[in-house]
Amino acid sequence: MSLQDLIDMPTKEEYTDKRLRAYDDGSTEMETLLLLYALVRRFKPVTVIETGTYKGFGTVWLAQGLKDNGVGMLWTYDKDECAGAREMVQELGLQDYVTFEHGKTQDAVLPSSCNIDLIFHDADKNPDPLKQEMMKFTLHHLRVEGLAIIHDANKSGLLGTLGEILPVTEFTQLNFTSARGLVICQRILKDTAWTNE
Ligand SMILES: C[S@@+](CC[C@H](N)C(=O)[O-])C[C@H]1O[C@@H](n2cnc3c(N)ncnc32)[C@H](O)[C@@H]1O
Repeated sequence: MSLQDLIDMPTKEEYTDKRLRAYDDGSTEMETLLLLYALVRRFKPVTVIETGTYKGFGTVWLAQGLKDNGVGMLWTYDKDECAGAREMVQELGLQDYVTFEHGKTQDAVLPSSCNIDLIFHDADKNPDPLKQEMMKFTLHHLRVEGLAIIHDANKSGLLGTLGEILPVTEFTQLNFTSARGLVICQRILKDTAWTNE
């Protein structure tokens, strides 16, 4: 199996957004997966987090980017075992670039020294746990200039309140309009980012 096989695989015909293709309603759209891969290649992150492993589509595209860069580790969190994702990672030879974390993101314990370069938020869509997750991972551990990619921002109803969780003075926002919603935030340099000097 290769990533090209994944692009070519049949996708759900009645997907909610006719412009996009996805394997099923829970998996990330192919077009978003390509974007994740490109961001990893261009941005060269070393510490990458995914919340919500599910069938492993985001996992393998993020990890393939790290493998092609030659460096980095993806920690992927899910409350379920995600056996299929583990198999796909092995099949694609990506096991040196992925660490599976089993448990709820709200219970995850991160070392204080943890410095995240890129995070893909794609687990719990309920506002309270999602807010807790974003505070724990992005607000406290995303490095300056790091990227936080929030999938299903419409499903979670998060779009309107995102600025309350990730203050606009610290995070820029780029919105991709789609049925499920996708937002990319970047942590900006505080104080120095907008000066004229
Ligand atoms: C939308 S799917 C993830 C899709 C995957 N990232 C992809 O790229 O195809 C959401 C996953 O989040 C997991 N999940 C839901 N709530 C969670 C929580 N509180 N902590 C960890 N995982 C959670 C679910 O078990 C499910 O597998």
